[in-house]
Amino acid sequence: MAERLIFPDLDSLAQAAAEIVVTSAQAAIAARERFSIGLSGGSTPRPLYALLASPAYAPRIDWPNVHVFWGDERCVPPDHPDSNYRMARETLLDRVPLLPDNIHRMPGERDPEAGAGAYDAHLRSFFAADGEDVPRFDLLLLGMGGDAHTASLFPGTAALGETDRWVAANYVEKLGAWRLTLTPPALNAAAEIVVLVSGADKADALDAVLNSPTDPDRYPAQLLQPENGRLRWLVDRAAAARLSG
Ligand code: 6PG
Repeated sequence: MAERLIFPDLDSLAQAAAEIVVTSAQAAIAARERFSIGLSGGSTPRPLYALLASPAYAPRIDWPNVHVFWGDERCVPPDHPDSNYRMARETLLDRVPLLPDNIHRMPGERDPEAGAGAYDAHLRSFFAADGEDVPRFDLLLLGMGGDAHTASLFPGTAALGETDRWVAANYVEKLGAWRLTLTPPALNAAAEIVVLVSGADKADALDAVLNSPTDPDRYPAQLLQPENGRLRWLVDRAAAARLSG
């Protein structure tokens, strides 16, 4: 059963998420001297990333032992205004002492299929070093769109049905654009998933995802069911407005 945590606003949601990141990082590094985190794109995580880079939180994470990945990326160059990497670089990556080799950027600038194949191979190599045959991120941060998409798994798109590859190039008709995205099996391999949902514009989708009959083609975020992991929804009151349960 997924846990639902409701906060008054995005700031309090971001603070709670920052505490989760610190706790998860400290536990992983204590156990294996390594913390693998998948970042979400979009706008919701911005205050979280800024908090993690702030004096209140940054000293609590052993950044040289942190490996940063992405759950999805727009098929644009890394310095493009729409790049999830660029947003993370500006709010977090450039402000904490991560090792450059530990920033595992999705190659949005490449041909989508080639980029997806390259990142898939990179993940398999990274996690194989741990003896893992799945991409068991210690923590995966995700968001959800007003259409119930998560990562770049949009309603009615091909990547929703991917069962073998860990990374897919996914053409999103409604955006007229390609995306790179972790696939459902890759997302659900994570040890822990935290979904950040903020704003009244997400209320209908969140209620549908959590309370409607399973229909992942229509509500892709319903696919988030970690095989052997923890799922938490961190939502603000505006996004939770329709939740009856
Ligand atoms: C992206 C994200 C995407 C995002 C949702 C919510 O590349 O846009 O990874 O899945 O989390 O679209 O976006 P907002 O946080 O901007 O509402």
